Amino acid sequence: MVLKFWVLLGLVGLKSQLKMEKNPAKTSWAHGVNDRAFLKSSLMGDVDMLEADIVMGRLTDGKENELPIMAHPPKQISDLSLMEFLTVVDDFNRDNAFKKGIKLDFKSIDAFEAAIRSEIFINITSEADYPVWLNADILEGPNAPSYTKPVDAARFLKGSKLIPNAMLSLGWTTGFNNTHNSGYTFPQIEEMLYTIKQNEVNQPITFAVRAGLVAESQDQMTLLLRNNNHTLTIWSGVQDDGFDVGKLNEILDKVEKGRIYVDVPQKLRSRLNIVNGTNNIKL
Ligand SMILES: *[C@@H]1O[C@H](CO)[C@@H](O)[C@H](O)[C@H]1NC(C)=O
Ligand SMILES: *[C@@H]1O[C@H](CO)[C@@H](O)[C@H](O)[C@H]1NC(C)=O
Ligand SMILES: *[C@@H]1O[C@H](CO)[C@@H](O)[C@H](O)[C@H]1NC(C)=O
Ligand SMILES: *[C@@H]1O[C@H](CO)[C@@H](O)[C@H](O)[C@H]1NC(C)=O
Repeated sequence: MVLKFWVLLGLVGLKSQLKMEKNPAKTSWAHGVNDRAFLKSSLMGDVDMLEADIVMGRLTDGKENELPIMAHPPKQISDLSLMEFLTVVDDFNRDNAFKKGIKLDFKSIDAFEAAIRSEIFINITSEADYPVWLNADILEGPNAPSYTKPVDAARFLKGSKLIPNAMLSLGWTTGFNNTHNSGYTFPQIEEMLYTIKQNEVNQPITFAVRAGLVAESQDQMTLLLRNNNHTLTIWSGVQDDGFDVGKLNEILDKVEKGRIYVDVPQKLRSRLNIVNGTNNIKL
């Protein structure tokens, strides 16, 4: 039954080969692609990048031991394993000229290390001819809630070297207060740059930063972008509100072209200076 479901999807996918090339400014994201139904609709739809979360947990049919599954904490159950997610996307991309990229957001070092112990995982991700991003929050950032622990930075960066062509997407654990936020601090930015240096990272890096905090951190973002090989990926919590979108737009206007990705809910995206490609967005 599972097989039939994905074969059908492959056929639907063939049609999208005929699409025109996308304006890079309109690079779009499906966020939280953590179950079969959403994966299916995201592959059939128009998005360029699939963002998805990985935890150790169990499949809904429940028989197996814990394995890397697609879910956002505190959930620890899913109908979609990481391996199924990956093989389905990879098969889809094999059959389609317009390939979807993936951003794998590892929520724990255990989930990441279980993933990279799999030779199939390493083979697929390192041979991919579409964007593969490995994301983790490796440091503590603004308003980080006490119940979230950063992913072990040294172990994550070391393991990532097994997939040298992957983009590293590095972030901070954060929280958000809709009435008052002071943004990223310089020590938080410096700790990130130091960690990258210490671990001799030699891969492209994008920093995953939270929209409402970015709005208060213009100079800190400039420091993050000092190395020309680095980019920002602005994301936002669905509930995040009450911050100065004008300030965020100022930053978007200031940063040079091609150095910012924007993975935010449509409600916020429609207020940003990115609609016509006046700004910065690339894939
Ligand atoms: C992974 O790739 C290597 C090198 O191409 C190959 O020898 C190996 O059999 C592959 N492993 C799996 C599980 O596909
Ligand atoms: C948010 O910030 C305001 C002002 O600093 C503070 O009074 C409030 O307790 C904070 N709320 C949360 C949930 O931290
Ligand atoms: C940017 O990347 C290129 C190619 O990997 C490298 O040669 C160069 O030294 C890097 N620049 C900086 C500032 O790290
Ligand atoms: C941007 O798009 C809007 C609506 O699509 C249009 O009204 C506006 O003229 C465009 N601006 C530029 C600079 O192209």
